[in-house]
Amino acid sequence: MKNILVVGGAGYIGSYMCKYLSRQGYQPIVLDNLSRGHQQAVKWGPLIKGECRDTDLLRYIFSTYRIAAVMHFAAFCYVGESVENPSAYYFNNVAQTLKLLQEMLRANVLIFLFSSTCAVYGEPVGIPIAETHPQRPINPYGRSKLMVEQILEDFHATYGLKFASLRYFNAAGADPDGQLGEDHRPETHLIPLTLQVALGQREKIQIFGDDCATKDGTCIRDYIHIQDLASAHLLALERLLGGRCREIFNLGTGRGYSVREVIKVAREISGRPIPEEVVQRRPGDPAVLVSSNEKAIAELKWTPRYSDLYSIIETAWQWHKTHPTGYR
Ligand code: UFG
Repeated sequence: MKNILVVGGAGYIGSYMCKYLSRQGYQPIVLDNLSRGHQQAVKWGPLIKGECRDTDLLRYIFSTYRIAAVMHFAAFCYVGESVENPSAYYFNNVAQTLKLLQEMLRANVLIFLFSSTCAVYGEPVGIPIAETHPQRPINPYGRSKLMVEQILEDFHATYGLKFASLRYFNAAGADPDGQLGEDHRPETHLIPLTLQVALGQREKIQIFGDDCATKDGTCIRDYIHIQDLASAHLLALERLLGGRCREIFNLGTGRGYSVREVIKVAREISGRPIPEEVVQRRPGDPAVLVSSNEKAIAELKWTPRYSDLYSIIETAWQWHKTHPTGYR
């Protein structure tokens, strides 16, 4: 059985990846500092608690386990926070990743899968957004992810690192078995916030602007279920293990939903009223972000299966209903 080091494997997407890897016959080994992840979400292999800048710890891991590949999910991922505290974003998302890559090279572990983001594109010049779209991020979060993508290109050219940069659109939904789900503190994402209103934990959902040039005036996003993200990672992993060396894919559905559509489906699924209030647009929020996923479908042979809005909100609702305080 191949060991896969999953950095950030106690987080929302990383923990689901571990479950999926385990089902597919791989052994996940989790490295997580638990600053934003949850110990209770690590169930499919060992949890090593620590920092990915900790050289001694990385050397211990690489010498103890025969690691076939590293998947890197550990990052700060809030756009607003990155504008307020860019230093933390460059340190956590770039400097720590560089340390991890250096130790991988030292241990001759040469396969790396990176959680990138649609934020590397910045304000879109056309929709849908293909992988060839110019990369002009407009905030430190997006820039931190682009910097790592550029490091990967250079490490590939010079050191023979094989990598996948997987650019997620809006990760959403929960484990269809109900074991794992979203528990961010603080929560800023639309779907969990809307479902917290449905549960009576918040009074109303704020809609960030209804004056965009979209069908109902609210922002449009491409929501992708964590199960579909996991299946794309596995396909990319197997291509890298099979000899491919540079994989860059958008992971989205190619279909966008407005904020109002999301809230409407959440009302239908939960059967709760979900009061709303329109407030100002959030600075730096593009009106529309929708992926072209043609490349992933054609080359990765990936098909998103769980990412219709109903499956996303249904699985998320089941999770929030049964875990009203998250993992606590
Ligand atoms: N929104 C609201 N009210 C809320 C929260 C969000 O109206 O209370 C809106 C946002 O304006 C946006 C949509 O709902 O139009 C989705 O917002 P999220 O916060 O759920 O997600 P983002 O689109 O802001 O974030 C995603 C990824 C980031 C990535 C970013 C790029 O989660 O990692 O897109 O813009 F950086």
